[in-house]
Amino acid sequence: MKKIIIAIDGFSSCGKSTMAKALARNVGYLYFDSGAMYRAVTLFCMRNGLITNGNIDVEALRARMNEIHITFKADPVSGNSITMLNNEDVEHDIRSLEVSKMVSQVATLDFVRSEMIEQQREMGKSKGIVMDGRDIGTTVFPNAEMKVFVTASAEVRAQRRYDELTARGDQPNYNEILENVQQRDHIDQTREISPLKKADDALLLDNSNMTREEQMNWLIEMFNKLTKEC
Ligand code: CDP
Repeated sequence: MKKIIIAIDGFSSCGKSTMAKALARNVGYLYFDSGAMYRAVTLFCMRNGLITNGNIDVEALRARMNEIHITFKADPVSGNSITMLNNEDVEHDIRSLEVSKMVSQVATLDFVRSEMIEQQREMGKSKGIVMDGRDIGTTVFPNAEMKVFVTASAEVRAQRRYDELTARGDQPNYNEILENVQQRDHIDQTREISPLKKADDALLLDNSNMTREEQMNWLIEMFNKLTKEC
C-alpha cells in the first residue's frame, strides 16, 4: 500500500501527541513531534542565558542556531520517541511549565521556524510518517494526504495537562495552566508566520467528549478511506 503523510495540527494540550503516537503505532508509521523541537530550542535558550525575565535575546539565538541539533531516538523499553538536544535526552525537561511559558514566543521567530521546517520536511522525505504540531498541514506539508485539525475546549485541555503534570510527580496549579493554554492559543493564532489555523482540506476533530478509543476508531476509518483512494 502506498505510504502517505499524516499531518495533525491543533490547539495546545488537546491530546494531539498521544493520538498521533497511537495512530503511528497502529498503521506502522514513524511519529514526529514538531512541538518538541520548538521546546528543545527553548530549553537551549534557557540553559544558555538567552532568556532573561521572559525576554529572548534574539540576535544571540540567531548566532547560535548552528549549535542546536535536534534528533529523535526510540526508547529501547517503551518504543516511544525521545527528543535529543545535542545528543542529550531532554524529553523530561522540555515538558516543564517553564519551557511551556516561553516556547510560543520562541516559535514566533522566523529563523527558528525556517530551520525547524527544513528539518521536518527532511523527516517526511520517504513518507510513512505522522507529524503533529501547529502548521504541519498548512506550511510544512501542504500536500499531506491526510490532515486532521484537533480541538477541545480550553478547560478540558487545561485539565488534561494538569493530570499529565500530576502523573509525573509535579504539583501544578490548574489556573496557571489554564492561563498558559489560553495565552499560547492567542500567540499561536495571531503570529505572523504560519499561524495556527485549520487547513481548508483538513478533517476537523473536536475531542472534548470523545474517549481515546472512539478517537482512534475515527482516525483509522479516515486513514483506511484515504489510503484506498491514493
Ligand atoms: O503539547 P502541546 O500541544 O501543549 O504543545 P507542543 O506541541 O509541545 O508545542 C509547544 C509550542 O510550540 C506550541 O504552543 C506552539 O507555540 C509551538 N509550535 C509551533 O509553533 N509549531 C509547531 N509545528 C509545533 C509547535
